Formats: sequence, C-alpha cells, structure tokens
Amino acid sequence: MNIAIMGSGKGSNAEAIFSAIADGTLPAKVVALLSDVPDAGILHQGARYGINGTYIDAGPYRTKLDGPGEQRYLNVLLASGADTVVLAGFMRIIKHGLLKAFPNRIVNIHPSLLPAFPGLDAWRQALDYGVKVTGCTVHLVDEGTDTGPILEQMAVPVRDDDTAESLHARIQVCEHRIYPSALRRLATGSLRFQGRRLVAIH
Ligand code: GRF
Repeated sequence: MNIAIMGSGKGSNAEAIFSAIADGTLPAKVVALLSDVPDAGILHQGARYGINGTYIDAGPYRTKLDGPGEQRYLNVLLASGADTVVLAGFMRIIKHGLLKAFPNRIVNIHPSLLPAFPGLDAWRQALDYGVKVTGCTVHLVDEGTDTGPILEQMAVPVRDDDTAESLHARIQVCEHRIYPSALRRLATGSLRFQGRRLVAIH
C-alpha cells in the first residue's frame, strides 16, 4: 500500500504510522507527506524517519481544501503514486476533487466514538457533555464531516478529575494503537460493506 500522509499539527499519529512501518508491522510505504502548515511538527516527524515532507499552500479557505489549493494537493498526490490518503490531524474538510480521485481510499482518525461528537475538539465536547466513556475512531472519509464508514474504534473511560488535556492525552495513546492497526487491515485486504457497515476485510 502506497500511502500519502497529510496533517497540520504535531504529527504524533504520523509518528505511530512511521514507527509501525519501520518495525515491519505495517506493510506500507510512505510516498508523500504533506502539510498545509509551514514548519508543522508532522514534517519534522517525517524527517526523523528520513521522509521528506512538503508544505503546500491550501489556499484562502481556512476550513476546507477546495479550488486551486485542492488542485495543488491533487497534483502532488497523483504524481506520488499514492493509492491511499491518510489524514493525521489535517484540519481542513476534504471536498469533491480529492474524494473523486481516491474513492473509499481516504482515511481519517477522529478523537471520539463517532457518531458522537463530530467536528472540532471532540474530547472537550465529550467532557462538557458529561459522557463517562469516549474514545477514538478510524473511518473512511466521505462528503460529510466525520460521517464516513467506520473501520476501527477504541473506548476510553472519562475520569471525574479529567481535564480536556488529560483526556485528549489518553485518547491519543489509543489513536496510536488503532491507526496503524486499521491501516494494516486496509493494506492486507479489501473492504466489504453491508450498507455503511464494514463486515469484512479479506
Ligand atoms: C488527533 O487527536 C486526531 O484524532 C485529530 O487530530 C489530532 C492529531 O494529532 N484528527 P497528531 O498531530 O497526530 O498528534
């Protein structure tokens, strides 16, 4: 599996993926590492593993990848030979152009048990709501926001003394387990759905 990783932040999920590839537990090759934030931590994580990251201007829209910015990403992704796009903290909504170029092959990780708490700062939403269990979800990306078919989830109990930061930190530990694991299943099989329910990867 040839993956392109895209992120905007510190890149701890990308690091977990690089590490799984390096230790031989994830049969994949990183063919592109892209960020919409110059000097983002994720680009430095790549450098630690000998992967050249690239900043690409995503254009004037702050919350989506569309128009000329989308085209710039598309050009690089298509030239890289990527068959799978892995979003690891990429803070823009993916629009039609990319979805059409990589049907059912764009994956995302979200810090809640979807469909609860889509959108930004999901761990804070969970804490404010008062749920006792939250978690993280790896899912395929579709036209909605955090609405695509679910590949893998892990639950995280919410403690009475949690802060947004402590809860997010425990969720991230689980993210780093399920993202490489879901990608391993994608790399070694093909997806079969019943409606939106994933029933098997052979
Ligand atoms: C993670 O919490 C992920 O769930 C969300 O963005 C964050 C990225 O963190 N989509 P990192 O850059 O991988 O550390």
